[in-house]
Amino acid sequence: MSIADVAVIGGTGFYAFLDDYEEHAVDTPYGAPSAPVAVGTVAGRTVAFLPRHGPHHEHPPHAIPYRANLWALRSLGVRQVLAPCAVGGLRAEVAPGDIVVPDQLVDRTYRRIPSYVETGAVHLPFGDPYCGRLSAAVAAADPVIKSGGAMVVIEGPRFSTRAESRSYAGEGWTLINMTGHPEAALAREMRQCYTAIALVTDMDAGAESGEGVGQEEVFALFRANLERLTGILTRTIETLPDPDGCTCSTWADGIDLTYDVP
Ligand code: ADE
Repeated sequence: MSIADVAVIGGTGFYAFLDDYEEHAVDTPYGAPSAPVAVGTVAGRTVAFLPRHGPHHEHPPHAIPYRANLWALRSLGVRQVLAPCAVGGLRAEVAPGDIVVPDQLVDRTYRRIPSYVETGAVHLPFGDPYCGRLSAAVAAADPVIKSGGAMVVIEGPRFSTRAESRSYAGEGWTLINMTGHPEAALAREMRQCYTAIALVTDMDAGAESGEGVGQEEVFALFRANLERLTGILTRTIETLPDPDGCTCSTWADGIDLTYDVP
């Protein structure tokens, strides 16, 4: 039985989305998720909310229980995941305060478990890491949203050096973040549609002047934009596409998935 069709995974500074909700403490083969999953109603849909870093920001990016999070959401019936996150900007085409729906991801993490696959031949297609239909629904929710660009995901929890930042920008990547991977890949393995919704909080360390990026500016900018982000999420939920038939789930048709999709 499906308890919720759609989920929002809240990022840095985003610890509550639903006004009226029931909490579900979900146990998973991968341990506990970041928090009990809150389930409530938005625009007539049952929506699950999970604060990625925990209700009190107790899980740093490299220690988030990513596998438990996506498994827990799927076990409640979630097939579509909207994933707001704080990001740094790497190139002049974005600025703090912009909301961007990226279309590519680059994994520069190195000590996370990035998959549910522990045995057998299961190789998920990931050329397009985000659901095109879900991304289009987000972009349509507000004309100021920018679409496209690659988000590089670093291990953290430290920010990048200036040299690292300039090298990422030189590769042509637009955004930098610490949580987008393996979240997107695990959602695909759970046969879920997934899109990142990136709020640019800073211009990373590649900027020629200034002290480089600091945690306070990231948190403050996220707080200042929370209402805007909540509005975009609500309008997206009002116009969500039907997940049936989307390649985010059909990729696994006929494949013997060697892990449990609840
Ligand atoms: N999240 C927000 N800003 C970031 C940055 N500059 N680098 C990595 N992750 C971030």
